[in-house]
Amino acid sequence: MSEDSQDQVQTEWRNFYGRRHGKTLRDSQRVYLSEDLATLSLQGVDREENPERLPLDLAEVFGGAREFWLEIGFGGGEHLVHMAASYPEIGIIGAEPFVNGVAMLLGKIRAAGVTNLAIHPGDARDLMDVLPEGSVAKAFLNYPDPWPKRRHHRRRFVTQDHLVPLARVLAPGAEFRIATDIPDYVRQAVQEVPKAGFELVAQGGEPWADWISTRYEQKALREGRVPHYLTFRRR
Ligand SMILES: C[S@@+](CC[C@H](N)C(=O)[O-])C[C@H]1O[C@@H](n2cnc3c(N)ncnc32)[C@H](O)[C@@H]1O
Repeated sequence: MSEDSQDQVQTEWRNFYGRRHGKTLRDSQRVYLSEDLATLSLQGVDREENPERLPLDLAEVFGGAREFWLEIGFGGGEHLVHMAASYPEIGIIGAEPFVNGVAMLLGKIRAAGVTNLAIHPGDARDLMDVLPEGSVAKAFLNYPDPWPKRRHHRRRFVTQDHLVPLARVLAPGAEFRIATDIPDYVRQAVQEVPKAGFELVAQGGEPWADWISTRYEQKALREGRVPHYLTFRRR
């Protein structure tokens, strides 16, 4: 997303610098939001609903799931739905504050018929607050907002403010995958992620065997940028 189009939204106690709304939703997308979003949304993430920030009971949300995975900033939901369809035994949670992206995801969920997904239609930081410690076995960060200006680098996800809460919710040995097309993002990830309790396992131009290309990856490729894939492991 272009930096000019970013709104700053002051939530009760956190600044969110991304966009929450984009172009007008299609009628079908309004229907998905009104009919499906409440059922698929995790209860107890927002501060009004859960002021004491009690941990969520993921086993109750996903009866019978073998483990739980997390995607941060799922955009249009291509990767999230692909993973849910590929791994029906896993309970997968996606966080995304951009309502147009959430609406796109809901359309894809209907088309794919997957039932092992839950959504937080908001900031991943609010979700991480209430995920139990060590509850997540894999996390995905695909094409995070690049924040190219140096003075904005502290807004990137790969900063300790985001990585320490992520490390808390990941189980020891959990995998954390990052895909990006921004060389300076790779630099910052390699520098910052290990400080939060991860080791770098692999990086390079080859995606994971179960990868599916996302909208932002397609945009990067069209514009001549080169994808880079990093795999970290929680210590
Ligand atoms: C560049 S887009 C990439 C979208 C998608 N992952 C893809 O690869 O096409 C980055 C996304 O991260 C989302 N995002 C930014 N900050 C976030 C946060 N704190 N929690 C959850 N999502 C966030 C944005 O709304 C945006 O949709």
